[in-house]
Amino acid sequence: MKRIGILFGQENTFPQAFIDRVNHKAREMNQDIVAEAVLIDKVIQGETLKYHVIIDRISQDVPFYRAFLKNAASSGTAVINNPFWWSADEKFFNNALMTKIGIPVPKTVILPSNQLPTDTTHNSFRNLSFPLDWEGIFEYIGFPAYFKPHAGGGWKSVYKVSNVEEFFKAYNETEQLVMMLQEEIQFDEYYRCYCLDRQDVWVMPYEPRNPHHLRYLKDTTVAPEKNKMLTDVVLKINRALGYDFNTVELALRDGVPYAIDFCNPAPDADVHSVGEANFEWIVEAAANMAIRRAMAHRDGLNNLTWGDFIYSSANNEPIVEGAYDESVKKKPKNKLAAKTTRVRKTKSADSTKESDSAETPAKKTKKTKAA
Ligand SMILES: Nc1ncnc2c1ncn2[C@@H]1O[C@H](COP(=O)(O)OP(=O)(O)OP(=O)(O)O)[C@@H](O)[C@H]1O
Ligand SMILES: [Mg+2]
Repeated sequence: MKRIGILFGQENTFPQAFIDRVNHKAREMNQDIVAEAVLIDKVIQGETLKYHVIIDRISQDVPFYRAFLKNAASSGTAVINNPFWWSADEKFFNNALMTKIGIPVPKTVILPSNQLPTDTTHNSFRNLSFPLDWEGIFEYIGFPAYFKPHAGGGWKSVYKVSNVEEFFKAYNETEQLVMMLQEEIQFDEYYRCYCLDRQDVWVMPYEPRNPHHLRYLKDTTVAPEKNKMLTDVVLKINRALGYDFNTVELALRDGVPYAIDFCNPAPDADVHSVGEANFEWIVEAAANMAIRRAMAHRDGLNNLTWGDFIYSSANNEPIVEGAYDESVKKKPKNKLAAKTTRVRKTKSADSTKESDSAETPAKKTKKTKAA
């Protein structure tokens, strides 16, 4: 029997729908696979869990869960998303990585927190120049600009600032947050895109300037060529980062897709916010991914996903899209185009090769050397 667990917080619609969908599919497929809510009564170091796969929707808010998941991963649980990568990652690094792989991102700088971090003094910052080169920073970024935390989400502490005075007023409110100052992309169109398993993409037209309940533009269609262009960008981003479950926000300015927010490893999947059609897609795609990963699970080995950045770094190679799991090679271009149009529910055509994606960088290296 393969067991799939989901770990979640306050959300009420996605977890049960996911569990029901996996169990329904497993019955239809006649597979000995069961999904359930993870239940923890103690966590012992190095102990193997009964879960072959865990979907993590909450460890960003519960450090105890993050440690639990790393422990689970050490004994072979396929944790989605990789808890090591999620711990290492933040939005500024992601932007930096995008500049290396040719994905357009707004000009961005990171700034030291306005207030000293707890237990530090001015002596802790003798490597910083006071004042910073504010003139150079403002000249590079320009105004208006976005000023937002380098970690976290939920639109918290996100400011739009129009001039130097507004910037410093906002900066003085940010206490110990580490903030990024970012060029504003004055966009014509905006999309929020689910990306699962570095292969399934669902493009959702989104208007962030609308009130919350009207942001997902449920009646707007996306032309197939545009859908493909956005899909390719989203796949490239997630293959580089190694996220199995993520959303990418893209702002189109003069037809160029700028990646605005692409570090959302527990993205909104509530039916009341994303709407029925988007909810149906994410439930179906997540269930398919979890089943693929459960079937590909290898006992006692590392079953996490890494990404092209980690893979290429560990192997001392230049970063190449799809290098980690050869996902680009696996998909002939026409197949990829066909499966990303909005009429499709989800894919399964590539799932037979899924076992490849669970390989660790180290294992791949050995194979490459042997070949
Ligand atoms: N550089 C930018 N140019 C234009 N708009 C931006 C920019 N950065 C942020 N925004 C706007 O601010 C919103 C919130 O920013 P962002 O998505 O980066 O923060 P967040 O806290 O991760 O939000 P959420 O978790 O709700 O997605 C975006 O949806 C977008 O509308
Ligand atoms: Mg966002």
